[in-house]
Amino acid sequence: MADERKIPAHVAIIMDGNGRWAKKRGLPRTAGHAQGARTVEKILEDADHMGIRYLTVYAFSTENWSRPDSEVKSLMNLLRTYMKTSLAKCAKNNVRIRVIGDKSRLDDDLIRSIDNLERETAGNTGISFQIAINYGARDEIARAVRKGAEAVRAGELDPSDLTEEWISDHLDTAGLPDPDLLIRTGGEQRISNFLLWQLAYAELYYCDTAWPDFDKEDLEKAIDAFNRRERRYGGVIE
Ligand code: FPP
Repeated sequence: MADERKIPAHVAIIMDGNGRWAKKRGLPRTAGHAQGARTVEKILEDADHMGIRYLTVYAFSTENWSRPDSEVKSLMNLLRTYMKTSLAKCAKNNVRIRVIGDKSRLDDDLIRSIDNLERETAGNTGISFQIAINYGARDEIARAVRKGAEAVRAGELDPSDLTEEWISDHLDTAGLPDPDLLIRTGGEQRISNFLLWQLAYAELYYCDTAWPDFDKEDLEKAIDAFNRRERRYGGVIE
């Protein structure tokens, strides 16, 4: 039977619960992140097969620097490995990769592999995969505001040019549609400074599954829940 569900074009995910997943198994938190990275790869493929066009995941927040050095290092190494080893798979599956967030604080070699993967996959026309690294929505908005202020000071823009559209076009997600659905795993129900501007009209879906255990069935459940919601964008249903 044909799938008659509406598939959200853009799904964003807060991948929470890695640490608790590991603790429950007597493993170090970093083992939870490593398993979480495997889940990322599987869910990207599942999302692609289901017809999702854009997937955006929160891999490292501006606040995550305050975690123990060893955990920060381990997360950076997972991202490093991902950037260095994903090119062939992206080519095969026609995946386009973009990193959102302030890259300037990352190690030079990581920045170079991100730039390389973004450049090499820029022409791919399949699913678009955004990874948020050193990302905070308030930081992203503040950076856009500073750009606008500089342009006004330089006489290139009038304050009235700083419209909602201008702001959207100067966020890290410029050119991407806003997420239709936000999924947060791990049982907490918060946005945690993720895509604050872009999530204005998104449906929010929370589940208890820890991210390392999140699988295709969980993604299907989130899509089903999305289909049960009525999206009104502030209007009324006739
Ligand atoms: C939150 O769980 C998760 C993170 C801070 C890191 C998420 C990163 C990954 C899954 C790796 C990303 C890899 C790629 C390839 C994109 P937590 O540690 O806060 O869990 P807890 O709430 O149970 O402690």
